[in-house]
Amino acid sequence: MTSGPPVEVRGLTKQYGDITAVDGVDLTVEAGDVFGYLGPNGAGKTTSMRMMLGLIRPTAGEVKLFGKDPQESISALTGVAGFVEAPRFYPYLDAKTNLELLAALDGDGANGRIPEVLDIVELTDRAKDKVGGYSHGMRQRLGIAASLLRKPKLLMLDEPATGLDPAGMRDMRLLIKRLASEGITVLLSSHLLAEVEDVCDRVAIIRKGKIAYQGQLSQLRKEAGLSYSLRTTDDTAARKVLDSFTAVTDVAASDDGTLRFHPADESAVAQLSGQLTAAGAMIIELAPRSATLEELFFELTEGES
Ligand SMILES: Nc1ncnc2c1ncn2[C@@H]1O[C@H](COP(=O)(O)OP(=O)(O)O)[C@@H](O)[C@H]1O
Ligand SMILES: [Mg+2]
Repeated sequence: MTSGPPVEVRGLTKQYGDITAVDGVDLTVEAGDVFGYLGPNGAGKTTSMRMMLGLIRPTAGEVKLFGKDPQESISALTGVAGFVEAPRFYPYLDAKTNLELLAALDGDGANGRIPEVLDIVELTDRAKDKVGGYSHGMRQRLGIAASLLRKPKLLMLDEPATGLDPAGMRDMRLLIKRLASEGITVLLSSHLLAEVEDVCDRVAIIRKGKIAYQGQLSQLRKEAGLSYSLRTTDDTAARKVLDSFTAVTDVAASDDGTLRFHPADESAVAQLSGQLTAAGAMIIELAPRSATLEELFFELTEGES
């Protein structure tokens, strides 16, 4: 028996002609993680996951799943299941038949688990309907059911909630949480931070093929630092005060109509309130705010360089 973390990726690179789709990615998913692989469209998520699942060969670097390289031996995929982009089924067959065909390939009692996996993804009532008539969300759930036939220890899901309506997204989140609570390590990708914020404890953010951040979501929030919002009776005057005060940085007008800034420390905030009053800008609101993850995500993925 080899062992190691569910996913360990080092220097993973994939080149398509002039395009470096994945560029030196290092990534570790620990047992029990619900790991979010985040990045905008075209960042390299699917390509990375194809390499992790052994579906395509890396140009450079290596993938280890529980210590084994999926390019070297098919046994590396024991206990690993998932799909990239979208699960595929025969549209003219019903869900149960599709699962039976897959179970025949998987062996190992998979056929006997069909009722259970259909139940987990709440498709028992629709098991006899042709998959061609399924909604996008139902097909995604059936994809998870198919993955569960293999009793995976690691589940890799590429954008499982993309394209779902809000209710479908919520169901997907609940399903992933349930699977995680049963001890399955999950790696899921998304281009929407809000989708994983609630389910994932650790994330990697990929941007143009490179990892821009990897770690705890809570740590990411901390690193972004605290910002303050400000509203006064005269925001034009307030803006002038903020711009000329060296103890505050990153002054910007926010969408909610407040001014945002990063103070050097609390005493800078106290001094600022004095300066604002002196400038005739009476404070209506002056409040600390932790940056929303959405803002951080935007900075990390859309920022310069
Ligand atoms: N088979 C391929 N041939 C050429 N370029 C590809 C191929 N697959 C992906 N790419 C390119 O690699 C980059 C990353 O794509 P992808 O991994 O699909 O990103 P994501 O899943 O994050 O949206 C994109 O620029 C995409 O156009
Ligand atoms: Mg993709």
